[in-house]
Amino acid sequence: MIETTLTIRSDSPIGTISPRLYGHFAEHLGRCCYDGLWLGHIDTDIPTYGGFRKDVVDALKAMPVPMLRWPGGCYADHYHWRDGIGQNRPVRLGLSCGLQVEDDNSLGTHEFLALCKMLGAEPYLAGNVGSGTPQELCDWVEYCNATIRTTLARQRAANGSPEPFGVILWGVGNENWGCGGSYDPISYANEYRRYATMLRHVDPSIQLVAGGPDDKWNMEFIDTNRNHLTLLDHFSIHRYWDKSGPEINFNEDQYYRLLEEADDTENFISGTAKFIREALGKSTHKIGIALDEWGVWHPEARGWGPYKELERKPTTYEQAGTLRDAIAVAAALEGFHRQCNVLSLANLAQIVNVLHASVMTEGASMWLTPTYYALQMHKPHIGAQALPVEIDHSVSIPGGSSAVTATASYQNGTNITITNRHFSEPARVTIHTDMTTGVRFGQVLAADSPRAVNSVSAPDRVKPAELPVHLVTTAVWQVELPPHSIATIGLVG
Ligand code: AHR
Repeated sequence: MIETTLTIRSDSPIGTISPRLYGHFAEHLGRCCYDGLWLGHIDTDIPTYGGFRKDVVDALKAMPVPMLRWPGGCYADHYHWRDGIGQNRPVRLGLSCGLQVEDDNSLGTHEFLALCKMLGAEPYLAGNVGSGTPQELCDWVEYCNATIRTTLARQRAANGSPEPFGVILWGVGNENWGCGGSYDPISYANEYRRYATMLRHVDPSIQLVAGGPDDKWNMEFIDTNRNHLTLLDHFSIHRYWDKSGPEINFNEDQYYRLLEEADDTENFISGTAKFIREALGKSTHKIGIALDEWGVWHPEARGWGPYKELERKPTTYEQAGTLRDAIAVAAALEGFHRQCNVLSLANLAQIVNVLHASVMTEGASMWLTPTYYALQMHKPHIGAQALPVEIDHSVSIPGGSSAVTATASYQNGTNITITNRHFSEPARVTIHTDMTTGVRFGQVLAADSPRAVNSVSAPDRVKPAELPVHLVTTAVWQVELPPHSIATIGLVG
């Protein structure tokens, strides 16, 4: 039995855990948007809310989804928003990540923004730079946000939305160093400045996101735009974990390797934030880090990285999500909470069926992945004050982390999520707090194996169960966690 002591300090909060750190990503890629979320393009008996799968929407509402990015990804730089409004929409070549599909554009701006409304999600629209123009993106902003009765605003009203949508978050392209146009940093920086200047004229209240792949690129981008930094609100970076073996039949080393990759996401965020801060020099302008694609990318979904030969054919971008993936999410979220003063938004890729999905569908069936439950167990932290956690640990795991790790926050009481990362050993965790007086709830997500998955035939193999929380002495609590498990407890005070 691993013995670990946690001390939660409530006197020096780290900062606020913005709901934007719990964002998701829906791209028109594989069965994510079309089939996973949207059935408006086919005749079906599956119940929908105005074309969106009812079972999926209900599940996502309960997760929850505070923010949603759309329509890509790589798809964004081929997407022309006018194709997705009004009647008689054209059928285009849907292009993303090497896939080519028939794209009837039935899921367009109004439909996506209606989905966001149903979910209570803030929309984040990714604009087209690669095959678009500044005018096209300015028009999309005007169409969505104009309060003056311009022709575009009237068109929006005629299409069912007299009130402006008020979309605040806009991406100026996606991965423009690669699929979004193969720009070099200086040419993208110049292009970005032109777009951002014009977009801000249309709506000064919008927040704009630029992106870069690494420090060298980011430095050149910032140097080129040094006199125009206020045009930049968020800087997008992407991190996929792709070096940890097969989706299900991983070995113990690969299990720990994924957790190391997940932990390293925090270094990527803090390192990029520090670098950008230094690159800004004397400027007091604040640029948030937007990790607007993150998660595990298993080789079966599409082979890249060291396990390319495991790719399933044809390529679907779909993968099985085990309990290991959920534990990796919990590891990453610990880092997001610690970095909540520099990380301004994050989007798990992707929301349904594709890559690190929370929800999966097959025909009329739907099931929730262990990742779904891991996210749901973090709900008490959304919008809360992140609290520092001191860990006194007896056992480390490969990579050097404590076997037991935790994150805590304050909101309607003290909320603590604890992860026992050990592959095979249970853990007893003693929690010292300043002033807690009772237990509001205790939940644990565990299974007999970290390889456990939910599926169409066994949708409930991994789901949360109640966790007993014992009082040791005043404001000191104890829980026992199975190996490879996640627990969340809510304390009074
Ligand atoms: O999420 C899948 C793809 O990964 C996105 O379209 C792209 O931005 C990234 O390379």
